[in-house]
Amino acid sequence: MTPLLSKVCPCFFPEQIEPARPLEEIEQSLLSQEASDAPVPDWDGFIDWAQRQQGTVNPFVLLFGNKLPAGDALDLGSGTGDNVKLLLGSRWSVTAVDANQKAIEVLKRIQSPKLNVIHSTLEEFQTDKKFSLILAFNVLGFCTADKIKEIWGRIYDALPKNGHVICSFPTLGRSAYSKWALNREEIQQFFIEKRFKIVEEIKLNDPFTAHPLVFVLKKI
Ligand SMILES: C[S@@+](CC[C@H](N)C(=O)[O-])C[C@H]1O[C@@H](n2cnc3c(N)ncnc32)[C@H](O)[C@@H]1O
Repeated sequence: MTPLLSKVCPCFFPEQIEPARPLEEIEQSLLSQEASDAPVPDWDGFIDWAQRQQGTVNPFVLLFGNKLPAGDALDLGSGTGDNVKLLLGSRWSVTAVDANQKAIEVLKRIQSPKLNVIHSTLEEFQTDKKFSLILAFNVLGFCTADKIKEIWGRIYDALPKNGHVICSFPTLGRSAYSKWALNREEIQQFFIEKRFKIVEEIKLNDPFTAHPLVFVLKKI
């Protein structure tokens, strides 16, 4: 953890390392969660609530995204677009993707020639474009377990070399809504080690978030 982060966000603390399971077992565990009967969150209700919050600043986008030279960014699961606005304000061009119609209407109200809004699930979303920054914040756990590998592969393909991802992951026992969850070691092993350099990893000490594991990654 950077000293800077611990100063601005006192909610971070190091997580105990749990032993990682073999890859095959982790994969099996993901697939067995495919049939998860996790309830689908009330996304319309979430969008109403998020609008009432009138924009919250994401410290990770602020601290890490702002250090990168502005270019093309992709925000997966944009919600009401707090991160989109943050990036647009820092001169990024942004493609915002969300599955919820209400979110899309809110996103389309953001007036910027540098914003492209796409109504799609992450399971279906495909692009040929490259993005030097991809955000997947508070969304991956809501995607179908058996599509996660595919989605993660597409995130990798949409990055140029040295491109960055700022993302958060669900972890075990944290949310009834997550369609899958792995411990931190498993996430590193399953998704990250081979393809990305971990620039930063943070565990949020927030009992309400379904996605307490935050990673800043660089494609190498
Ligand atoms: C908890 S909000 C996160 C919003 C924003 N990324 C943030 O961190 O503030 C999750 C958003 O992801 C969208 N979402 C959920 N499942 C999705 C999926 N499978 N594909 C695309 N968007 C999805 C929801 O509509 C909602 O707007």
